Amino acid sequence: LCCFVIARQTANKQSKYMNPILDLLLRNELSDREQTGLLRRLTVHSKNLSDFSSNDYLGLAASSELGEIIEVLVRKSGAENGSTGSRLLTGNSAFAEETEAFLARVLHTEAALLFNSGYTANLAVLSALPKRHDTILYDELAHACIKDGARLSMAKRFSFRHNNMEDLETKLRKSTGNIFIAVESIYSMDGDECPLADLTSLAHQYNAFIILDEAHSTGVMGEEGSGMAVALGLHNRIAARIHTFGKAMGVHGACVAGSETLVNYLINFARPFIYTTALSPHNIVSINCAFRYLKEHKHLQDALHANVELFLDTTRDVGNKTASHSAIQTVIVPGNSAVRNAATILQRNGLDVRPILSPTVTRGKERLRICLHAFNTPAEVRKLTEALNRLADGKNAGLGLY
Ligand SMILES: Cc1ncc(COP(=O)(O)O)c(C=O)c1O
Repeated sequence: LCCFVIARQTANKQSKYMNPILDLLLRNELSDREQTGLLRRLTVHSKNLSDFSSNDYLGLAASSELGEIIEVLVRKSGAENGSTGSRLLTGNSAFAEETEAFLARVLHTEAALLFNSGYTANLAVLSALPKRHDTILYDELAHACIKDGARLSMAKRFSFRHNNMEDLETKLRKSTGNIFIAVESIYSMDGDECPLADLTSLAHQYNAFIILDEAHSTGVMGEEGSGMAVALGLHNRIAARIHTFGKAMGVHGACVAGSETLVNYLINFARPFIYTTALSPHNIVSINCAFRYLKEHKHLQDALHANVELFLDTTRDVGNKTASHSAIQTVIVPGNSAVRNAATILQRNGLDVRPILSPTVTRGKERLRICLHAFNTPAEVRKLTEALNRLADGKNAGLGLY
């Protein structure tokens, strides 16, 4: 109430584009964030820096060759600019269905259903499958969209300690109804892998269903970029896989891969699928072309893995690194201002590395999130690791990494 009164008193100073009282209330919250160093801002980043932060792991987003292939096919198909409606109304097309059949083949499954993004695909699966008396168990480091999807469902939901199968089993023992376990194949902030073989055995023991988010493994793992479950031959033991196309595939969108029944169920019950305009024809052509392009350019996966190995071989123990052999590497630099400063030093050295602040990650676990790419040159990777080693020695304005 007090805030409301102050807002009214100073209302006439506020923006003319918004109700002045609401404007002030929102500004108060923003200013709290600013004072605690947590204000988020949009920045346009220079393309002149060496890219160690985008999710374009294989360079497909930046590939003009792929861009031309997409343009030619879009023109040839005579597709309209937009999809014009939800898939259940005017937004469906023969090409969308052909692409889903193609994706199902690439992903070694019976069916696939396209979504506008990985965020909405996770919301769809987690909000539609578990019901009121069911239980969702999710890894504590799971992406926000897994947690948001679980929150949208009516099921009970609990987190388990990151990659900790004992803690998961303790929670499985107490779970009721149908049990859904939600994990990622490669964790987006740590780059480490989930222990999928152990997880599938445990899930089998408790008749639990696994929902696997393959956002950071799609494209970089498995034949034709089919992801971790296929690479390990465990795909038939997963109830639903979410593959996103905005990362290594360099385009946009996502799909859920699973059985025909699963796909029919999502078409009928998943609100994030039903109540939205379908992906544009251009988008769908791009997804199709990106997978075909990757099949012809298998060496991109090898080039990425060579850069990961070079990074691991040439960084000394630069602080609390997570055990990752993926494209995502992290160096923990506790404290928002310390990690921001460390990133600024790297950027001034021509290296585009971004800080990840709390509360996106737990306080004390703020980090430099380094993404390696197929297109980074060995010289760029060495320059990065030398800079990190120098930071670890505290040789840059006294900034250590601990
Ligand atoms: C693990 C994980 N899942 C899902 C998403 C969301 O995917 P999209 O960007 O396609 O919405 C992301 C992207 O940030 C992610 O890292």
